[in-house]
Amino acid sequence: MKLFLDSANLKEIEEAYHTGIINGVTTNPSLMKQALADKKKGKKIDLTDYIQEILTIAKGTPVSLEVKETEEKAMVEEALSLFNQFNPIANNVYIKIPVNSSLKGKTRPFDSLKAIKTLVQANVPINATLIFTPEQALMAAKAGARIVSLFAGRLDDYIRIQHGIGFEKSDYFPAEGIKKGDLHVQDNGLVSGVDLVSKCSHIFRMYNIKCEILAASTRNSRQLREFALAGAHIATVPLDVFKAAISHPKTIEGLTTFLEDVP
Ligand code: G3P
Repeated sequence: MKLFLDSANLKEIEEAYHTGIINGVTTNPSLMKQALADKKKGKKIDLTDYIQEILTIAKGTPVSLEVKETEEKAMVEEALSLFNQFNPIANNVYIKIPVNSSLKGKTRPFDSLKAIKTLVQANVPINATLIFTPEQALMAAKAGARIVSLFAGRLDDYIRIQHGIGFEKSDYFPAEGIKKGDLHVQDNGLVSGVDLVSKCSHIFRMYNIKCEILAASTRNSRQLREFALAGAHIATVPLDVFKAAISHPKTIEGLTTFLEDVP
């Protein structure tokens, strides 16, 4: 399974890439906004330079950049412009398109699929994002997306919110779901984010669909393990979750003892 860093923060990207085990970077407008706010601190930051730096650090591995437009033609134009501007730097740009670009009060069910199809024909690699069901993933793959980003952590959040279950963002959500009295809480038959990944993986394997399944919005290291067990090709993970995933109290204790015992 490939490991991507879910961040637009240059320092975090550098730190993660220095480990030598990172296979790509995913960004989105919210991560970009946060990273720029962290870096700015009064200074003026040039977004083009900033993206160039990310692409250069990640050279040789894919970096997903997301469109902000939502109408078919505008999405295609923005995607082509982003791709033509940034891909020549390190030849590693994927364009992220939301699987459905409808907004509250503005329904556009098929604009994204049509935009993906057009961009694929123009040889732009697409990461279809904001996916919450296997059927959305299937349709994005049929349109030609190379990656489908399943927002597993956010699905867990959504299930808990819908059923009035309180939680902290990093809390573990069982892959097999949660029972509340007699009710097995779920969203349209999906009992957890890991279940979403697992069902999508099952469908893609059954029909030999070549598109890669990327498990996203990873909340903790146990969920990362379960993404791997569920058959994700890629997991995108924030830096703090990578740090948690390489840690165990008994590792620290054991090493401390070994070093104390050095004769
Ligand atoms: O890659 C998707 C990710 O950026 C969303 O994560 O934590 O905002 O749900 P989160």
